[in-house]
Amino acid sequence: MTVIVTGGAGFIGSNFIFHMLSAHPEDRIVCADKLTYAGNLSTLRPVMEESSFRFVKLDICDRAGVYALFEEEKPDAVVNFAAESHVDRSIEDPGVFLRTNIIGTGVLMDACREFGIGRFHQVGTDEVYGDLPLDRSDLLFTEETPLRASSPYSASKAGADLLVMAYHRTYGLPVTLSRCSNNYGPYQFPEKLIPLMIANCLNDKPLPVYGEGKNVRDWLYVEDHCRAVDLVLRKGREGECYNIGGHNEMHNIDIVKLICAELGKPESLITFVTDRKGHDQRYAIDPAKIRRELGWTPETGFQDGLRKTIRWYLDNRSWWEEIISGEYQSYYQRMYGGR
Ligand code: NAD
Ligand code: DAU
Repeated sequence: MTVIVTGGAGFIGSNFIFHMLSAHPEDRIVCADKLTYAGNLSTLRPVMEESSFRFVKLDICDRAGVYALFEEEKPDAVVNFAAESHVDRSIEDPGVFLRTNIIGTGVLMDACREFGIGRFHQVGTDEVYGDLPLDRSDLLFTEETPLRASSPYSASKAGADLLVMAYHRTYGLPVTLSRCSNNYGPYQFPEKLIPLMIANCLNDKPLPVYGEGKNVRDWLYVEDHCRAVDLVLRKGREGECYNIGGHNEMHNIDIVKLICAELGKPESLITFVTDRKGHDQRYAIDPAKIRRELGWTPETGFQDGLRKTIRWYLDNRSWWEEIISGEYQSYYQRMYGGR
């Protein structure tokens, strides 16, 4: 089949493309990406020349461009990773989050209706459920947990999720939706916790931990997420949502300390900075449904995954050094300068 993967020059989208090209060599993958600050064409260099792969620079909000691509490629399925994805940026400037995450998703689904596409899969996040208390380890996010987004980012993703389900009910669009916990692994942009801490450690720079570092995230190695999305795309039931996570809750401070230990850097680099506005306390996914219905379980444990990730950042310094030498510098100054 032909699959359009939007946002495939970003972190998870690129890992998904690598997964698809190796797991399903019979499929054709068309990556559509606007190449925002978070999209990096060099990430896709290893597959650029493959005959079953095509890259198209495209904004998912550009209706005419999206329709033209659908007309040309006649895809069987669309997997939508394209999004503005960083919570801190959404607090600074929400507008582009509403545009890409909500309007862009609507444009893609309109094209799916127009061209009779067999499956639209929306890549969602656990952040739409809001947060859980730190002292209630018995509570987990299920697919039935009410939406209670905290940040402009998560609210825009919740808006997209609602739109996806509305298109299914109103127009019968064959959709699936997945909501995943925090991913980590190769090619993650160094504004996110794990790659930021690795890069700063390697440059002997302060490690800015928000608040007291007690917030909890539920970490999943990116390849496990990609396998799950692939399964939902092929075997998930239409109109259904699947939570994806690996029961791997960690306090932020413990992750930062682990990274220091792995890299042999002193914990004195850790600097506690002003907390994120509206900072979610704890995320924790209950992945029972995807395990029960589709047989998915994570394969990479956290220690192993973190080691592989650190190894990748050590072996691919030019990938992230190019990023942090550019426009990222002024972003970093803006975000962390007065904190
Ligand atoms: P990312 O920021 O690394 O990549 C986003 C990609 O989308 C970039 O390549 C960017 O150029 C592209 N893009 C942005 N706006 C676009 C537009 N208007 N048109 C076309 N392309 C556009 O993000 P990521 O971390 O890889 O996340 C991918 C998806 O997964 C997002 O939808 C995010 O909400 C979701 N998600 C992420 C995580 C995580 O931990 N990173 C967890 C759960 C869900
Ligand atoms: O849960 C899924 C979500 O995970 C995705 O939907 C988002 O796209 C993705 O960015 C991620 O959101 P988070 O806000 O959890 O990720 P981030 O890496 O920004 O932060 C993780 C935790 O670390 C959070 O509690 C804030 C904290 N943090 C983050 C940064 C960047 C710090 O303490 N210091 C930092 O410098």
